[in-house]
Amino acid sequence: PHTLYFSRHGESEYNVLGKVGGDAVLSARGERYAQALATKFNAMRIPDLRVLTSRLRRTIATARGVEAPQEHVAALNELHAGICEGLSYEEMQEHYPQEFAWRDQDKLRYRYPWGESYIDAMQRVEPVIAELQRSNNILVVSHQAVLRCIIGFFTDKKPEELPYMEVPLHTIIRVSSHGYNYKVDFFKLPI
Ligand code: F6P
Repeated sequence: PHTLYFSRHGESEYNVLGKVGGDAVLSARGERYAQALATKFNAMRIPDLRVLTSRLRRTIATARGVEAPQEHVAALNELHAGICEGLSYEEMQEHYPQEFAWRDQDKLRYRYPWGESYIDAMQRVEPVIAELQRSNNILVVSHQAVLRCIIGFFTDKKPEELPYMEVPLHTIIRVSSHGYNYKVDFFKLPI
């Protein structure tokens, strides 16, 4: 059997403000999630566990306490929002109403100016997916859009569904092989 674990980073200062992108640190709640995640994984004693994070501070801090080799890879960074990095959705609508409307019409293909689309993110994570297919017992700590792409790949989601998948904060998502299919279980950590 093949088991992979996924988590978004703990709540960041930008999550609190509703802002996208950036390289914010964890909020106090986010720090508590990092603690809870480490306690949980360290108690599970998963053989040969490895941890992959993005290169952003919020995922590195979230995974730090998990006792396993850690690798930080740029391919797991959040979808880059280009000129909208650091804005809230309200600010986007106010400053770039046309961009906001285009994204709403085709969230899968919409590419932020100087940034990425979901299609771009899917291509970027392909090498990570290839590695996950060859590996067992990996914890991937990444971000909402990128995790939609990776988990959606294993669960055979239609590309059009990816941008709307639920990947909640403060939740461990276990993807495990079940015959030829993968099943997904969500474990919300109380924090
Ligand atoms: O709000 C958190 C976040 O990870 C942003 O950094 C990112 O732009 C966004 O979620 C992706 O979600 P959506 O594609 O629904 O805007």
